[in-house]
Amino acid sequence: MAPHPRLAPQARLLSLVLAVALGLGSAAPGLGHGPEASDRAEPDPYSILTWHDYSPPSPPPPPPPPAAPAATCAEDLHGKGDFSTTCELSEEVQLDGDVYITGNGSLVLNSGTALTCEKPGCVISANLSGEVRLGRGVRVVAGWVSLAAANITIADTVIVNTSGLAGDPPDRTSGVPTGTHGDGGGHGGRGASCYVKDGQSQEDSWGGDAYAWSDLEHPFSYGSKGGSTSVEKDYGGVGGGILWLFADDLLMNGTVLADGGDSSDKGGGGSGGSIYIKAETMHGAGKISASGGNGLAGGGGGRVSINVFSRHDDTQIFVHGGMSSGCPDNAGAAGTLYDAVPKSLDVNNNNMSTQTDTLLLDFPNQPLWTNVNIRNHAKVVVPLLWSRVQVQGQLSLKSGAVLTFGLTGYPYSEFELMAEELLMSDSTIKVFGALRMSVKMLLMWNSRMLINGGGDSVVATSLLDASNLIVLKESSVIHSTANLGVRGQGLLNLSGDGDIIEAPRLILSLFYSIRVGPGSILRGPLVNGSNGDV
Ligand SMILES: *[C@@H]1O[C@H](CO)[C@@H](O)[C@H](O)[C@H]1NC(C)=O
Ligand SMILES: *[C@@H]1O[C@H](CO)[C@@H](O)[C@H](O)[C@H]1NC(C)=O
Ligand SMILES: *[C@@H]1O[C@H](CO)[C@@H](O)[C@H](O)[C@H]1NC(C)=O
Ligand SMILES: *[C@@H]1O[C@H](CO)[C@@H](O)[C@H](O)[C@H]1NC(C)=O
Ligand SMILES: *[C@@H]1O[C@H](CO)[C@@H](O)[C@H](O)[C@H]1NC(C)=O
Ligand SMILES: *[C@@H]1O[C@H](CO)[C@@H](O)[C@H](O)[C@H]1NC(C)=O
Ligand SMILES: *[C@@H]1O[C@H](CO)[C@@H](O)[C@H](O)[C@H]1NC(C)=O
Ligand SMILES: *[C@@H]1O[C@H](CO)[C@@H](O)[C@H](O)[C@H]1NC(C)=O
Repeated sequence: MAPHPRLAPQARLLSLVLAVALGLGSAAPGLGHGPEASDRAEPDPYSILTWHDYSPPSPPPPPPPPAAPAATCAEDLHGKGDFSTTCELSEEVQLDGDVYITGNGSLVLNSGTALTCEKPGCVISANLSGEVRLGRGVRVVAGWVSLAAANITIADTVIVNTSGLAGDPPDRTSGVPTGTHGDGGGHGGRGASCYVKDGQSQEDSWGGDAYAWSDLEHPFSYGSKGGSTSVEKDYGGVGGGILWLFADDLLMNGTVLADGGDSSDKGGGGSGGSIYIKAETMHGAGKISASGGNGLAGGGGGRVSINVFSRHDDTQIFVHGGMSSGCPDNAGAAGTLYDAVPKSLDVNNNNMSTQTDTLLLDFPNQPLWTNVNIRNHAKVVVPLLWSRVQVQGQLSLKSGAVLTFGLTGYPYSEFELMAEELLMSDSTIKVFGALRMSVKMLLMWNSRMLINGGGDSVVATSLLDASNLIVLKESSVIHSTANLGVRGQGLLNLSGDGDIIEAPRLILSLFYSIRVGPGSILRGPLVNGSNGDV
C-alpha cells in the first residue's frame, strides 16, 4: 500500500505529459501550488457569485468594550471592599446600565449571588489583575459579559448567560431575515426558513444569512434576531450575546451561554452569539454554548473560539442550529467552533437534520489550518466560485455531513481541495462545476462524492489526485456527470458491493495497484476495472 518511490519521478513526468495531452493542465489553476489569485481573476458574468471576501488577515484580539467611568464596589455593585484589593458581593444586584470594573484586585461573587443587567447589549466588563471567582449557584446575566483576570473560577452550577440579550448585529450584515415567514436569524450558520418559494427547493431557502467569517478566531459579534410572522408584532427570538473569558488559569465547572433566544410558533429563533475563551490552562467539565434559538424556523449557530494552551477538561461545546417547529427536518445551520491551538475548525449540528448551510469562505494560507471537521448532520457550503479549501491535515466528514462546492444550477467553476487526508464516513460531497482534489489519502465509508459538471464542456475535467491511497468501502460512490480523472501512485481499492467510480469518460492513471472487489464497479468507456496504467 506504500507509494512506489522508485516510480515517482517518471510517474510525475508521465502524469504531466498525460495531463497536458488530455488538456487538463491549461485549464486548471495549477494543481496545488500555482499563483491562484491571478488564475482566478478571470472575468465572469456571474460576478455576484464570484465575490471574494479578501479581508486582511484577522486582527489581534478584539478591542475591549469602550472605556467608561469605572464602577466602584460599594456604589455600583453594593459590595464590600474595593477593586484594588477584593470586592465581595453577597446579594443579588440588578444593574440598570453598563458597568466597567478595573483594578489591581479581585472580584468575588459569593454562592447564591447574582449580577444581572437584563437589557439587550448591556455590558458587564471586569478587567482585574487578581482573580474573578464566581461561587456555586452564581448568576451573571447581560448582553456582553467580558471577564479578564489572572485567574477565573466558574464553580459548579454557575450560569453566565448572555442568551437572547444581543445588541445590534454588525452593520452591513443580513443576519436578520426579511419578510414575514418567521425565519431564523443567521450568524455562524444561516437561519432556517420553512417557506419555500415556487420553483425552489428547501435547500435554496434560508432565513438570516451568515456573517463575521473573518472573525471566527476571535468572535465579537452579536447574534441576530429571528423574523416574525406578523408585521404588527415582533415575535422573533433575540440573538445571543457576547461572552469573553480571558485568564491565565480558568476553572470552568459551570455553564456559559450565548444562545439565540427562542421564539414561539409565530417567529424564528435568534442566532447564537459569540464566545471567546483565551487562557493558558482550562480545567473543568462545564458547558459552553452559542447555539441557535428554537422557533417556527430555528436560528443559526453562533461562533465559539477557544484559545487554551493547556486543556484538562471535558467541557462540552455546542454551536448547533435551533429547532424548527414549522419544518422539523430543517433546523438552523450549525455555527463554527474554532480551536486556536491546533488551528482546527469544527462544524457540528448535533445530529439535528438541516437543509440550511453553514458557509465556508476564505481559508487562511499563512499559516494553514490543520484540520476541518464537519459532522453530525452539519451542512456546509463553499459558495464562492473559484474557491480553494486547503488544510494541512485532515478534512473529515462524518455522521451525515454534507459539503457542497458551488451553487446548484451554476456548474461553471472549479474548486480546489487540498489536504493530507480526506476522510468521509456516512457523508456526502457535492460539486457544482469541477473539482481539483489533491490529497495523500482518500478514504470513503458509505459516502458519496457527486460531481455535477453541467451539460456543456465549459468546465474542465475533474481531477482527483491521491498520491498514496484511495479506498472506497460500504457502498461508497464517486459519480461525475463530466469527465473525471483519478490519479495516484499507490493503491486504488474498491473493496466490495456497491463501491463505484463512474463518469462518462473516466481516466485512471498511474496507480501502482488497482483492486476492484466483488460487486464494485469502475465505469467509464476508457477503463473497465482492470489493472491499468493508461
Ligand atoms: C485589561 O487591561 C489591560 C491593561 O489595563 C489591557 O491591556 C487589556 O487589553 C484589558 N483587557 C480587556 C479584555 O479588556
Ligand atoms: C495597578 O498597579 C500598577 C503598578 O503596581 C499601578 O501603576 C496602577 O496604577 C495600578 N492600577 C490601579 C487601577 O490601581
Ligand atoms: C487564583 O488567584 C488567587 C490570588 O492570586 C489565588 O489565591 C488562588 O489560589 C488562585 N486560584 C487558582 C484556582 O489558581
Ligand atoms: C470543579 O469540578 C471538579 C470536578 O467535578 C471538583 O473537584 C471541583 O471541586 C470543582 N470546583 C469548583 C470550584 O466548583
Ligand atoms: C439564559 O437566558 C435565557 C434568556 O433569558 C433563558 O431563556 C434561559 O433559560 C437562561 N438559561 C439558563 C440556564 O438560565
Ligand atoms: C450523532 O449520531 C452519531 C451516529 O449515529 C453518534 O455517533 C453521535 O454520538 C451522535 N451525536 C450526538 C451529539 O447526538
Ligand atoms: C482492499 O479492500 C479489501 C476489503 O477491505 C481488503 O480485503 C483488501 O486487502 C484491500 N486490498 C489491498 C490490496 O489492500
Ligand atoms: C468489464 O468487461 C467485461 C468483459 O470484458 C464485462 O463482462 C464486464 O461487465 C465489464 N464491467 C463493467 C463494469 O462494465
